[in-house]
Amino acid sequence: MKQSDTKQPEYLHIRGEKKPRAHIIAVGGGKGGVGKSFVSSSMAIFLSQMGYKTVLADLDFGAANIHTYLSMGVPSVGLHQFFQKPLMKLAEVQIPTGFKNLSLITCANDSMDVDQVTDKDRSRLMSSLYQLEADFIILDLSAGATASTLDFFLMATQQIVVLTPEPVSVENAYRFIKSAFFRKIKRYEHQLNLEKVLNEIMEKKDELNIRSPGDLLHYLSKHEPERGAQLSELMNQFQINLVLNQGRSQKDLELAPSIKSVCKKYFGISCELLGQIEHDNAVWQSLRRRKHLLVDCPQSRLYTQLMYISRSLMKVKNKKAVV
Ligand SMILES: Nc1ncnc2c1ncn2[C@@H]1O[C@H](COP(=O)(O)OP(=O)(O)OP(=O)(O)O)[C@@H](O)[C@H]1O
Ligand SMILES: [Mg+2]
Repeated sequence: MKQSDTKQPEYLHIRGEKKPRAHIIAVGGGKGGVGKSFVSSSMAIFLSQMGYKTVLADLDFGAANIHTYLSMGVPSVGLHQFFQKPLMKLAEVQIPTGFKNLSLITCANDSMDVDQVTDKDRSRLMSSLYQLEADFIILDLSAGATASTLDFFLMATQQIVVLTPEPVSVENAYRFIKSAFFRKIKRYEHQLNLEKVLNEIMEKKDELNIRSPGDLLHYLSKHEPERGAQLSELMNQFQINLVLNQGRSQKDLELAPSIKSVCKKYFGISCELLGQIEHDNAVWQSLRRRKHLLVDCPQSRLYTQLMYISRSLMKVKNKKAVV
């Protein structure tokens, strides 16, 4: 990012005043290649097939490839034009796909680099996503936990972290969740009047042995009970949905409950398992045939597993709409 990452993004000023029109789902994760784009595109295909107007937004600046999962070439319009033309509406770069009810917004054209995206561009994109007419918007994010990725992750109504059972992926997922949480605190600390006290604590974090959101909450509750209660409320609102992808054995599939309990125990963050997806070479074999697995192999077990995940998303949206 060109501008300071610590500066509050402009779009935060509309928070609380505006709610997104669509149910926005962000798909992130600490590590590259864990299956974020495969999972995002699968959910988007299912939701659109269920009749929901769905937009899939490829926000993996510098490495956008979701068009390939949708069997499309690189679209000629995209976020590059949107950023270049201040009066352009986001809907103008929303392009149809081969799937009914599913459109794509991508940054794949003109090989956009993440460093080209300014804070102002980001803010404009975020508020435009809030205003976009759709039932679901799915944000496919880049790997890692840069401030920009975390802000897109946190702007969503529902947050999904994709991970695989490998130790590196699990470790990166923990790191991503932890970074997302600290970023969320940063966004609210001013509003909750926590700024000063948190800065003081974080300056001495090594000395105080604060390594996780859970440690922070523990310390704050002990020394500043009122503020501790505010932070605790913020933590309770923060819910991560996990998708465990590329499981190869029963043991892999048993990993999810332990990740869930680690998140609760050490981070104080509640993580729900949205679903598990097995490893299947058919994923890339289908892609080689320029087809999505859901189209190419509707009889595969992954089809059912992905359908189960997509149905859960539909239930969350409907539940939130009722509330
Ligand atoms: N369940 C699965 N079984 C087998 N292969 C899979 C599965 N999920 C994803 N893959 C394969 O793993 C590779 C990475 O998937 P994908 O592009 O979705 O990852 P990503 O997390 O979006 O990566 P990046 O961070 O680079 O954007 C692809 O080759 C894809 O075909
Ligand atoms: Mg990807």
